[in-house]
Amino acid sequence: MAEQSLVDPQPAVLITGGASGIGRASAERYAHGGWKVAIIDRDGMAARAVAESLDDAAAFPADVTDVAALTESIVLACAWAGRLDAVIAAAGVWSEGPIEMVTEAEYQRVMDVNVKGVLFTARACIPALRSTKGTLLLMSSDAGLQANRGAALYCASKGAVVLLAKTLALDLASDGVRVNAVCPGDVMTPMLRSQAEEHGAGDPAGYLTRILANFPQGDTARFIEASEVAELLWFLGQPGARAITGAALSIDQGLSAGTF
Ligand SMILES: NC(=O)c1ccc[n+]([C@@H]2O[C@H](COP(=O)([O-])OP(=O)(O)OC[C@H]3O[C@@H](n4cnc5c(N)ncnc54)[C@H](O)[C@@H]3O)[C@@H](O)[C@H]2O)c1
Repeated sequence: MAEQSLVDPQPAVLITGGASGIGRASAERYAHGGWKVAIIDRDGMAARAVAESLDDAAAFPADVTDVAALTESIVLACAWAGRLDAVIAAAGVWSEGPIEMVTEAEYQRVMDVNVKGVLFTARACIPALRSTKGTLLLMSSDAGLQANRGAALYCASKGAVVLLAKTLALDLASDGVRVNAVCPGDVMTPMLRSQAEEHGAGDPAGYLTRILANFPQGDTARFIEASEVAELLWFLGQPGARAITGAALSIDQGLSAGTF
């Protein structure tokens, strides 16, 4: 008789920033695909609400900038799930304004969430991913591949994520762990809505219209849906994506393809 596996056969994904936007849409996509979903977010109430709306999901609230709390939540999530096959590091914050306006506190806020949080999420998850030959998906942005005027700090943080993903892809290739950066253009999420409120100078709709003018589709330009990014993140977690590692994958309607 074949030896029975002690490992839970149901695959599991851990998602930081899973309480909102792209992270939430990814939680829904992976749950729909029959995976266990562990949600880490600093908004504990929203994380629990998302988990309760899904089958086989649980919330492990933590601030990703607090490495001890983050690591503890990841340990608890792995124990709950029994295994870890994919990690989506989606917790992130937007920052906008000329470099003269960037304070040391703002620098710390943005780099702590967007770079430190992603790096230490990866560090804590790698041992579990090694044992399943799983995959790490790090959320960058079109702003990690090309300059966005007036957003130097955000671009610097997202550029760092691209090279973090590529370096980890090389370091972990012989373990069978794949690592990719995902680089969306403007996605209609609470982040984009609050960007428009905060930086639209009293005209959020005008702010959004100016963003749409950057897309090459002209009059038919639209914002990307979080569910579209989630679909790419789902594909990258599947065996069909086993040749894809060390990539920075754009999902931006051609925004970063070149000037037009
Ligand atoms: N929306 C876009 O247009 C867009 C485009 C490109 C890249 N991105 C990136 O995609 C990711 C998700 O963005 P979104 O639009 O879904 O944002 P969102 O604001 O809708 O969701 C982000 C989530 O991250 C959580 N979070 C923020 N800081 C945290 C922290 N310190 N610890 C734990 N959780 C924290 C928030 O509570 C929230 O639930 C981010 O990394 C963002 O930079 C977004």
